[in-house]
Amino acid sequence: MPAKKVLITGITGQDGSYLADYLLSLGYEVHGVVRRVALEDQRHRMWRINHIADKIKFHSGSLESYPSIFKIIEKVQPEECYHLAAQSFVTYSFEDEFSTLNANINGTHYVLSALQSVAPGCRFYFAASSEMFGRAEEVPQRETTKFHPRSVYGISKVAGFDLTRNYREAYDMYAVSGILFNHESPRRGYEFVTRKITSTAAAIKLGKAGKLYLGNLDAKRDWGHAGEYVKAMHSMLQQDVPEDYVIGTGETHSVREFADLAFKCLDMDYERYVEIDQNFFRPAEVDLLVADPSKAKKELSWEYNISFEDLVTEMVKSDYDHLSKA
Ligand code: NAP
Ligand code: GDD
Repeated sequence: MPAKKVLITGITGQDGSYLADYLLSLGYEVHGVVRRVALEDQRHRMWRINHIADKIKFHSGSLESYPSIFKIIEKVQPEECYHLAAQSFVTYSFEDEFSTLNANINGTHYVLSALQSVAPGCRFYFAASSEMFGRAEEVPQRETTKFHPRSVYGISKVAGFDLTRNYREAYDMYAVSGILFNHESPRRGYEFVTRKITSTAAAIKLGKAGKLYLGNLDAKRDWGHAGEYVKAMHSMLQQDVPEDYVIGTGETHSVREFADLAFKCLDMDYERYVEIDQNFFRPAEVDLLVADPSKAKKELSWEYNISFEDLVTEMVKSDYDHLSKA
């Protein structure tokens, strides 16, 4: 049997890279949408997938361009499509609301519309987010919890979620959303708080930095490991009936706890090095996120066994090892 064809948008990102690793290990023919600038500077812009670049078929395209997305889908004829590409940094969505809405809403609409036109049998995954719950109306948050987004990023994800649901209902497409809570790894972007903490703590330990400037230390997140979450994405596209699922650990920790543990991994006290900088506070904050992933556990048989301590330790160790050699 020929290998199943999959198309991943956002393949150069954290999740795209783990998903590509996973799907290659399952024998898929993996196609990835990348921006042209990434193809021009593969060493830097494709650092997360350089180890598998020779096994992936790349297609140049952008969320800003419907024709580019349409042509790729028409040519590849994927059987599964994971739409992960997005402006994913919440802080930036306050700075540039318009481009965040454009890329995240129109980009999702372009992929769905092109699939419906030229590959309607393709199964579609949308990367929805716990940011949609925002000022959450219940704890923990589950599939039925009402959305109350607190950023343009969150609003764009609610729109993407609704677009996905509507293509499922209106055109009978297998289109689902994974509502994923924060997931991290050594491949996390440096602007997100976990990687900012682990990379700066390692730099301080090695004498390459002095202080770590952070915003709200009291925000709480449900942090899991990205490598495990991509398995849930795949599983969502293998069901008999297309449905949306919440994915998270069911545990929540504050930014302060994360920093405390990260510095302790390097035998340091975070209170000596962390300084509060008002610039890193958001105009509207999401105070507490914690998942109820029981539907995914039951219906997808999705299991998650990595402790918060192990996640933080892995990220600190990776940054320390990397910076020691730099
Ligand atoms: P990420 O590391 O920021 O990766 C984002 C990807 O989107 C990159 O490959 C980026 O390409 C691509 N992209 C951005 N704008 C684009 C555009 N205009 N045209 C084409 N590609 C574009 O994000 P992630 O952490 O892997 O997250 C993957 C998805 O899951 C995102 O949609 C995110 O919003 C969502 N999500 C993430 C989490 C989480 O905790 N990580 C939780 C819930 C939902 P470049 O490399 O060229 O910039
Ligand atoms: N980035 C950042 N930088 N966040 C900080 C800082 C800082 O210096 N100081 C405190 N924080 C707080 C933020 O205010 C927020 O409450 C929390 O740390 C987490 O911020 P991020 O790591 O930037 O992630 P996020 O929760 O806003 O968004 C991530 O998770 C979402 C799922 O809930 C992103 O990956 C989104 O794409 C994703 O949808």
